[in-house]
Amino acid sequence: MGYLTQPCPVLICLQLLLLYFQCCSAKLCSHDQSSALLQFKQLFSFEQHSSYDCDEVYQQSCPKMMSWKEDADCCSWDGVTCDTVAGHVIGLDLSCSWLHGNIPSYSSLFFLPHIRKLNLAFNDFNYSEISSGFSQLRSLTLLNLSSSNFMGSIPASIGNITQLSYLDLSYNNFNGHIPSSFSNLEQLHYLILRSNFFRW
Ligand SMILES: *[C@@H]1O[C@H](CO)[C@@H](O)[C@H](O)[C@H]1NC(C)=O
Ligand SMILES: *[C@@H]1O[C@H](CO)[C@@H](O)[C@H](O)[C@H]1NC(C)=O
Ligand SMILES: *[C@@H]1O[C@H](CO)[C@@H](O)[C@H](O)[C@H]1NC(C)=O
Repeated sequence: MGYLTQPCPVLICLQLLLLYFQCCSAKLCSHDQSSALLQFKQLFSFEQHSSYDCDEVYQQSCPKMMSWKEDADCCSWDGVTCDTVAGHVIGLDLSCSWLHGNIPSYSSLFFLPHIRKLNLAFNDFNYSEISSGFSQLRSLTLLNLSSSNFMGSIPASIGNITQLSYLDLSYNNFNGHIPSSFSNLEQLHYLILRSNFFRW
């Protein structure tokens, strides 16, 4: 037994040290990214009924952005995922987050070019159209705008997001045709369009 237990405390110490360096030693988030995120937050008011459909289905909406604070590392903010090496924001999951407002093409969201997964499902974008700004997010592999009170036609520029493999536009008021530029989306595996007013 003795020879088994002896090395353990040293190992535990090393593991704790490693954990400390991985999680707590450096701020990952650059100032540019945290200010882009905080500006993005200012586009919205937070109202629970914006995520009414989420609560109907999952009963777990919450205003994630309300806890975002200037002086903290944005990589630790609720809904934000960063790449652990470079500290780039690579994921934003603001589904079911009470957002009410719209996202204009000049929004600072589009200054976060490393985002790969963007989930804005179950919010209230106030019957606005999808801004062409989304096409600046060239690294996007997942875009989820399901059940979020969007309307209008889909901008052809979405066809420029060539890495896109999941696109969920379901349960909105979209209309018009699916742009022919979608044929550029060679990685597209899931295209979910149900419950809209598309013409074929
Ligand atoms: C929602 O849209 C209406 C009508 O276009 C507008 O008057 C209102 O200011 C918008 N609200 C928000 C929060 O953007
Ligand atoms: C994006 O797509 C639009 C419409 O398909 C096209 O006209 C435009 O040139 C593209 N922009 C870039 C920067 O690739
Ligand atoms: C979009 O988000 C909703 C809510 O989180 C989820 O139910 C749905 O499966 C998502 N769609 C994709 C393609 O991930």
